[in-house]
Amino acid sequence: MHDHSTLSLYVHVPFCSSRCGYCDFNTYTATELGTDVRRDSFHEVLAKEVRYAAEQLGGARKVSTVFVGGGTPTLLGSSGLNYVLGEIKKSFGLVEGAEVTTEANPDSVTPQMLAELREGGFTRMSFGMQSSAPNVLQILERTHTPGASVQAAKWAREAGFEHVNLDLIYGTPGESDDDLIGSVEAALSAGIDHLSAYSLIVEDGTALSRRIARGELPMPDDDVCADRYELIDERMQAAGLPWYEVSNWAVPGGECQHNLAYWRSQDWWGIGPGAHSHVNGNRWWNVKHPVPYTEKVMAYERPSAGSEVLTTDDLRLEEVMLGVRLAEGIPLATVDLEKVEDLVAGGLVDPVGVSDGRVRLTRAGRLLADAVIRDLLTE
Ligand SMILES: C[S@@+](CC[C@H](N)C(=O)[O-])C[C@H]1O[C@@H](n2cnc3c(N)ncnc32)[C@H](O)[C@@H]1O
Ligand code: SF4
Repeated sequence: MHDHSTLSLYVHVPFCSSRCGYCDFNTYTATELGTDVRRDSFHEVLAKEVRYAAEQLGGARKVSTVFVGGGTPTLLGSSGLNYVLGEIKKSFGLVEGAEVTTEANPDSVTPQMLAELREGGFTRMSFGMQSSAPNVLQILERTHTPGASVQAAKWAREAGFEHVNLDLIYGTPGESDDDLIGSVEAALSAGIDHLSAYSLIVEDGTALSRRIARGELPMPDDDVCADRYELIDERMQAAGLPWYEVSNWAVPGGECQHNLAYWRSQDWWGIGPGAHSHVNGNRWWNVKHPVPYTEKVMAYERPSAGSEVLTTDDLRLEEVMLGVRLAEGIPLATVDLEKVEDLVAGGLVDPVGVSDGRVRLTRAGRLLADAVIRDLLTE
């Protein structure tokens, strides 16, 4: 399904106060960056790339969703973030009712800052809570206290944000079922309308992977993660936030429109270092490091490091990979019927969905989503 009438914008802010031991995102601390990149004027660099992007598209498309991610976008301050959003409004224009999200670390916001972001046109806040258990936060090397995320989410509601997400990580070594249940309950108590929950991925090159290699911590256990996933899913379903993507739950109407656009293989333009874009069947990615990225943007050059034209096969592959993970599933006609029948027999694909002409995962199928996708895509 390709909707070329609207466009989503992703804006990457590559700064964090400190790096969490598990994270391999394209983000840098002030010490890592040195004096080559000015954090306090980075919003101007991002705004310049926004202008450049709008010019490339010839002003033809308004923006339906904006997602500022990171890193820690709130390190730009409400004025920096509102400045970038102001440029998006000026250069592209927003469609009526556009969704405008920023991510934030729970300890990087104040009620005043949230009010200013709301005033500036942001409509949705997403905080990295990860857990409410002190032992888990410590292993994850998070800087915030256990109560900070609930507090930040409540402040966001009070500031007039109708849409508030919290991110959880489950399966951290040392986390118990009770820790996890406590985290889910705490998140729900904050009045959120959306939850993302990811199993802890041990990324190569992170402090976490070195600690595991040294034997200081055990690897997250797959069976424990599967049990935790079921606990989360049951609790969220009961609280009125059913799943709509394998790792995402929302009050109906609170689904993240930006991520849906991405999962439905619609068009998005990525602004910022390392950001990826997918527009009109072309894909490209920006230079990763903020220094060469800034140099290119300031010279008003396209800051991309590479690009490719997607073939029909690539597009189909992507539609299956992303679409199967959605509760709405994908049209039956896009995959091999015999394979689907085997997956139904194995309890991984929902037979009701199939009679409606869609491939939708059962809960068991969600736990094995990657394997189901591989199966559907092999000849
Ligand atoms: C850019 S961060 C969110 C905003 C903010 N920087 C923060 O951490 O509070 C995006 C999310 O990715 C998830 N994440 C990052 N690295 C991960 C990993 N190795 N395994 C599982 N989830 C991870 C975390 O839940 C995190 O909140
Ligand atoms: S998880 Fe968030 S705060 Fe931690 S290093 Fe990654 S982007 Fe920064």
